[in-house]
Amino acid sequence: MDKQNSNTVWHHATVTRSRREILNGHKSAILWFTGLSGAGKSTLAHAVEERLYQLKCRTFVLDGDNVRQGLCGDLGFSDQDRQENIRRIAEVAKLMLEAGTIALTAFISPFRAERQYARNLVPHGDFIEIYCNCDLSVCEQRDVKGLYKKARQGDIKLFTGISSPYEVPENPEMIVGTGTYELEACVDQVMSMLEQRGVIA
Ligand code: PPS
Repeated sequence: MDKQNSNTVWHHATVTRSRREILNGHKSAILWFTGLSGAGKSTLAHAVEERLYQLKCRTFVLDGDNVRQGLCGDLGFSDQDRQENIRRIAEVAKLMLEAGTIALTAFISPFRAERQYARNLVPHGDFIEIYCNCDLSVCEQRDVKGLYKKARQGDIKLFTGISSPYEVPENPEMIVGTGTYELEACVDQVMSMLEQRGVIA
C-alpha cells in the first residue's frame, strides 16, 4: 500500500469506546460470519441483528453483496481483489468496534490469512469468528441467486467452492450448522454465545 500517510498523527478522542459502551449498555464486538455463497451468512447475520435490536443493542450488518455495490465496487473476485475486499471490511469493522456497536460482517472471506488479518486488527477477544457450516452440495442445491448454475456452466469464473478455494476455519469461536438447523436455532446459538462472552447481559 502507498505510504503517503506517514506524516499523519493519530488524534485521540475523549469520547472513548468504553464510554460509548456504557452509554449503549452493552459491549461492542465484531461477529465475523464466514462460509460459502448460499451458506446463510447474511440471513443469519440479519436475524441475529433483529434479536439484538429487540434488546436495544446498537448494531450494523456489513454484507458482501451490499458493500460490493459501494465501498468495494471497484473489486472483483480474483484472490487479490478478495484480499483487498476483506482488508477494507476489516478496517470498517474496526471503526464500528470503536464506535461502540456490534458489527456483524457477512462475507465469504475465503482465506484464512485475511480472516487472521482482520482478527489481528482488534484487541484479543473482540473478534468472534462464526463459521456458517453448510455443505457445498446443499448451497448448490439451494442456489438462491442462480450463481452456482452459472459457475458450473463456466459463465462465472473464480466462483468460490467451484473454481476458487474456500479455506474452512480451523479454530473459529463458533460453528453454526446453517445447512442442517433451522434459522431460529442458529440464532439462539449465537445469542447464547454472546451472553456467555459478556457482550450482552
Ligand atoms: S469475498 O470472497 O469475501 O470477497 O466475497 P464477498 O464480498 O462476500 O461476495 C460474495 C457475494 O458475491 C456474489 N458473487 C460471488 N461469490 C463468490 N465467487 C464469485 N465469483 C462471485 N461472483 C459474485 C455472491 O452473491 C456472493 O454472495 P453470498 O451472500 O456469499 O452468496
